[in-house]
Amino acid sequence: MRTANVILMGLGNVGRAFVRLIQDKKEVCKESYGLDLRLSAAFKKDGGFFSDKSLDLADVLELKGNDFSRHPDWKPGLRLEDVLGCFKSGLLVECTPTDIKTGEPGLGHITAALKRKWPVAAASKGALVVNFKGLKALAQQNGAALKFSGATAAALPTLDVGLYSLAGAEITAIEGILTGTTNYILTRMEEGFSFEDALKEAQSRGIAEPDPALDIEGWDTACKILLISNAVVGTEFSLRDISLEGISGVSPTDVQKSRKEGKALKLLGRLINERGRARAEVRLIPIGPSHPLFNVSGANKAITFFTDTMGSITVSGGKSDPRATAAALLKDIINIYRN
Ligand SMILES: NC(=O)c1ccc[n+]([C@@H]2O[C@H](COP(=O)([O-])OP(=O)(O)OC[C@H]3O[C@@H](n4cnc5c(N)ncnc54)[C@H](OP(=O)(O)O)[C@@H]3O)[C@@H](O)[C@H]2O)c1
Repeated sequence: MRTANVILMGLGNVGRAFVRLIQDKKEVCKESYGLDLRLSAAFKKDGGFFSDKSLDLADVLELKGNDFSRHPDWKPGLRLEDVLGCFKSGLLVECTPTDIKTGEPGLGHITAALKRKWPVAAASKGALVVNFKGLKALAQQNGAALKFSGATAAALPTLDVGLYSLAGAEITAIEGILTGTTNYILTRMEEGFSFEDALKEAQSRGIAEPDPALDIEGWDTACKILLISNAVVGTEFSLRDISLEGISGVSPTDVQKSRKEGKALKLLGRLINERGRARAEVRLIPIGPSHPLFNVSGANKAITFFTDTMGSITVSGGKSDPRATAAALLKDIINIYRN
């Protein structure tokens, strides 16, 4: 049995879902994977929980909602650096907010963990988007795994397909519907909704964030195609290399015009990798029925890899909620320890 001391950064939607999930899956992890996951520390912005034994946060999560400070094990002001020296080995799970300008606070957390040779599983995108090359090099220097399925469309397998299932094939292009919110809004607009009403509905159904700007302006898709391309194809894109289009200027007329022509207007994250030259973009493109992503509607996501030897491979589906994101983190963790 291998033991992993989990250090969880962020106790928001995803962080809390992750705590619940590893409680629900504790026996499965032990019996099927020989892995004992122990929550050793968990942090919010203003403090954290820490124990040299395993923390049991069930009571915190179930009984006291988000008011962690009332719990006896809560340590106000506790920060990651205060506990780093307390563990011989650890596993960092990064679930803090995504900041695509600075990469913080995730960048500091992930850097500190990798320097200690701890493996990392991330749901937040900021650190990887801002310094993919540096973090990958740091992970390699220290022989530590750095996984981020949770940041690259979560339950939809993107990195695993590209890295493992397509090994040996040349990936000539990638096209993905990588943001459920934008696809949901475009689908509703095809059905006659205005952009504003479709967005309001997406927010009321918990599909869109209260501040949906990152999604509707195309940044979320740009982050995901950047991370997938850099990880799978070995590009070294930063966000400024990706030409960007969002959906905020789309009118129902644009969407319905495409439909009348037998096409569907989709916001695609694309990598075009031809003759050794790679470029990435986020584009609103009318696609026809022969395109593998034509029927991907509503909040669904999908990705197509075009290859030299295996043809095109499309994966679609997967939930987009916090529990599914937590499940993508758990998948990465199991695979880290399996290897
Ligand atoms: N929600 C999803 O379904 C989903 C899906 C895929 C990826 N993601 C990514 O996963 C990450 C987490 O999402 P979320 O929805 O859980 O966000 P959230 O609800 O806003 O939670 C963020 C958590 O991070 C904590 N935090 C902020 N700064 C911190 C710091 N310096 N040190 C330690 N903790 C800190 C916050 O603490 P306070 O509560 O004290 O502010 C909060 O507990 C984001 O990067 C998001 O992009 C989310």
